[in-house]
Amino acid sequence: MIVTLNNGVKMPQLGLGVWRVEEGSQVVDSVKTALEVGYRHIDTAAIYGNEAGVGEAIKQSGVPREEIFVTTKVWNSDQGYEETLKAFETSLSKLGLDYVDLYLVHWPVPERDLYVDTYKALEKLYADGRVRAIGVSNFPIEFLEKLLSETSVVPVVNQVECHPRLAQHELREFCAKHNIILEAWSPLMQGGDILTNEDILSIASKHGKTAAQVIIRWHLQIGNIVIPKSITPSRIKENFDVFDFELTQDDMAQIHALNQDKRVGPDPAVMNSY
Ligand SMILES: NC(=O)c1ccc[n+]([C@@H]2O[C@H](COP(=O)([O-])OP(=O)(O)OC[C@H]3O[C@@H](n4cnc5c(N)ncnc54)[C@H](OP(=O)(O)O)[C@@H]3O)[C@@H](O)[C@H]2O)c1
Repeated sequence: MIVTLNNGVKMPQLGLGVWRVEEGSQVVDSVKTALEVGYRHIDTAAIYGNEAGVGEAIKQSGVPREEIFVTTKVWNSDQGYEETLKAFETSLSKLGLDYVDLYLVHWPVPERDLYVDTYKALEKLYADGRVRAIGVSNFPIEFLEKLLSETSVVPVVNQVECHPRLAQHELREFCAKHNIILEAWSPLMQGGDILTNEDILSIASKHGKTAAQVIIRWHLQIGNIVIPKSITPSRIKENFDVFDFELTQDDMAQIHALNQDKRVGPDPAVMNSY
């Protein structure tokens, strides 16, 4: 499934995330497996330390570059206008690509208060045609409000932690009002107990699917872009095999009821490490 971003660029709604995937053969093999299975969207970041492997896998795959949607992100220590422009060149050269499809501000880092300048560098890269789209990650509403009032290109996505235990209804609604798509990180709650939750398992067995497939399908049906990570070939395949069934309204309501506003990752409002 393809979504159209607020600038008209098309983006596959389901991609492979590669956080904690080791640089070298592990990331090359995982990305190549994903591309063989049919994924056309890879989510990396400078801090993941595996951009070179992502680029290498793309080259080795034989899939034309323009068919693959590549996201990377500027890390917190590189925030600031000039620093971000420099960090982008480093990422691009590690990836071995001529352009990036989507470039994100990884975290707002409130203590540094540099995210507006950082985003202005992304606007420059976008104006210069170096990236096809720009956006943010881990931006709560108050940070988005400030960004929207001080910059001119509306982010295409806000990539945030989201899964059935942290449904992000309020943030999704705010984003939707501004034509920003919510992109879900840790969509499987990092492989946590949501995968053995009884409600999810009973929905899964009704559809002849796995818990992970039900959760990914829930993300797709609420309109999230979703980037599950796996280094296991069978799971990479399983996570992409979600286009032949549909969750009913009752299934969706049952999953919505699991929300506890519970995070497994840091709270962006106070995440200041770099
Ligand atoms: N912007 C941000 O700040 C941010 C933060 C976190 C993550 N992200 C992005 O979001 C992506 C996904 O998030 P995540 O890596 O934190 O967690 P996730 O995708 O929710 O979960 C990944 C974990 O689930 C396991 N898994 C995957 N598919 C499975 C399946 N079908 N059945 C059972 N277990 C399965 C994986 O194991 P194996 O790999 O061992 O198979 C891995 O341990 C990241 O890779 C990254 O690209 C972004």
